[in-house]
Amino acid sequence: MRLIGGAAIDKHRNPLPPETVAACMDSEAVFLGAVGGPKWSDPHAMLRPEKGLLELRSVLGVYANLRPVQVLDELIDASPLKREYLTGVDLIVVRELTGGIYFGKKTRDETVASDLCIYHTHEIERIVRVAARLAGERRNKLCSIDKANILETSRLWRDVTDRILEREFPELETETLLVDAAAMHLLSRPGDFDVIVTENMFGDILTDEASMLAGSLGMLPSASLGDSTRGLYEPIHGSAPDIAGRDIANPCGAIASAAMLLRHSLGLDDEATAVEKAIRAAIAGGARTADIVAEGDIAVSTTEMTDRIVAGLT
Ligand SMILES: NC(=O)c1ccc[n+]([C@@H]2O[C@H](COP(=O)([O-])OP(=O)(O)OC[C@H]3O[C@@H](n4cnc5c(N)ncnc54)[C@H](O)[C@@H]3O)[C@@H](O)[C@H]2O)c1
Repeated sequence: MRLIGGAAIDKHRNPLPPETVAACMDSEAVFLGAVGGPKWSDPHAMLRPEKGLLELRSVLGVYANLRPVQVLDELIDASPLKREYLTGVDLIVVRELTGGIYFGKKTRDETVASDLCIYHTHEIERIVRVAARLAGERRNKLCSIDKANILETSRLWRDVTDRILEREFPELETETLLVDAAAMHLLSRPGDFDVIVTENMFGDILTDEASMLAGSLGMLPSASLGDSTRGLYEPIHGSAPDIAGRDIANPCGAIASAAMLLRHSLGLDDEATAVEKAIRAAIAGGARTADIVAEGDIAVSTTEMTDRIVAGLT
């Protein structure tokens, strides 16, 4: 285990100490707990936990963040959306992870601030190819989301995406949406989506929105991949400081991330499937943490939910 984020700032005055980088570079896979929290959230602080995570993603070259959203029948009532919109929803967002506005130069003085958003053609090409290949292994549908009516980076995104899809993946059924419309379509017709590809910030925001289809932010796993099998695996949620230390957080997203690690980085497909089945079995057996509990039912703790999943592993 190695430190990153706030714990690493406290111990090493560095959100990503060199020994953490060395250990990650020397590993086939990295399993990450969330960074951040009120203790380190002073906007004027020089050292921010989130910087450690951005740097780690960049150092590892994991530019493709895969965020699957599956709605389990048993959890349909945990979502604020109506049942008829949710049945059979099974989509995956492929978020570009190492470019865009999160990585551009930042400036700030007394009265003005700026964040630069840059995308290079090769960054768009490689993420679109990842998403298109994935769509080919699924239901052959790919939706690209941008803001090409306003942003120059999005106009480049759209040109490159159209070219790659037309030349290299003509068999796919494709769709392009503006991000504001996409935010609405994700709620009004989530079942229509198969694979979604989008840039860094749009993917970050849209997947938190999409998590509510699955009932809770605590349900969603993610895998961040590059050109090798090495990957970074983490649930999509943050450190949830409002519920920290109370043994009530939903562990399903973290455990499902471990399943993605087994499959993508270690080639252990059967083991990954066993973990995913155990999560579904625990939920089918009625185990629910507070974020997904039905009205009138009693929630189980993080520990109990985890124990039930482990007990269901076959
Ligand atoms: N990848 C990461 O490490 C990552 C991602 C997002 C946010 N963060 C950081 O986390 C801190 C808190 O951010 P935030 O509150 O905006 O986002 P968050 O994802 O931590 O929490 C948002 C809401 O979802 C709930 N939630 C999150 N995970 C849950 C779980 N497993 N079970 C049940 N409920 C859960 C929280 O209680 C909270 O109400 C910030 O410092 C932020 O920078 C880190």
